[in-house]
Amino acid sequence: MSVRLILVGPPGVGKGTQSQLIETRTGAHPLASGVIFRAEIDAETDLGQLAKSYIDRGELVPNGVTIQMMLKRLRSDEVRRKGFILDGFPRTVRQAEALDEELEKEEIHLDVVVSLEVDEEIVVHRLSGRIGCTRCGEIYHRFNKPPKREGFCDKCNSPLLVREDDNPDTIRERLRVFWENTKPVVDHYESKRLALHVDASKDPEDVYRQIMEHLGR
Ligand code: AP5
Repeated sequence: MSVRLILVGPPGVGKGTQSQLIETRTGAHPLASGVIFRAEIDAETDLGQLAKSYIDRGELVPNGVTIQMMLKRLRSDEVRRKGFILDGFPRTVRQAEALDEELEKEEIHLDVVVSLEVDEEIVVHRLSGRIGCTRCGEIYHRFNKPPKREGFCDKCNSPLLVREDDNPDTIRERLRVFWENTKPVVDHYESKRLALHVDASKDPEDVYRQIMEHLGR
């Protein structure tokens, strides 16, 4: 049976890492707002240009364009068939309400909203060592998960890069924005009895197990 879930948590907590594990093992379709914005930036679209001006400062891209972009993808046949892993969306209560409306209208049932939780010093350590593949998006860490060949992806052999928003000033702003705008999203789903609080300080396999046990898999 397909999985339909949301991953919420501060920058660097491991949303992308879990999304890749869940996709590989359940076949659910990943929908990561940050990844989609970065693809728009690389393709030099108008949306990419707009998104870049916010992402570079660690601020949120405005709700209107973000909601439109994500709901459009959620409506695809592939996502309907395979299920979905929403990563980084919704990130404001306004986005959560728009998503709720859409799911209700389409009669799509959400399995769980996973709140990944760790101490702030751990996310700063994770972000300051992160490197990612420029082609397939595989995520590495200089110490926790180094690639076999330094600077290159194990999967597709493409170069690995540090994300532009992974610098100390922008990380600090992204964390501030999370507590102000995104923590209320967890409270929103808590009130709907959909939130699952997961200890994300454990290794990725352990975090994955906590999520799957909740889903009875
Ligand atoms: P986005 O791309 O979503 O970034 P983020 O939320 O800041 O999260 P990250 O991708 O930085 O971290 P992650 O939690 O996925 O961690 P990862 O798995 O990589 O958004 C970027 C920007 O886009 C935002 O700032 C905003 O401007 C804009 N944006 C996006 N969505 C938006 C929205 N809905 N509305 C408005 N604006 C939006 O892991 C991090 C590192 O830790 C890796 O190196 C990994 O190997 C390591 N690691 C992961 N898990 C573990 C573990 N369990 N143990 C040890 N190491 C681990």
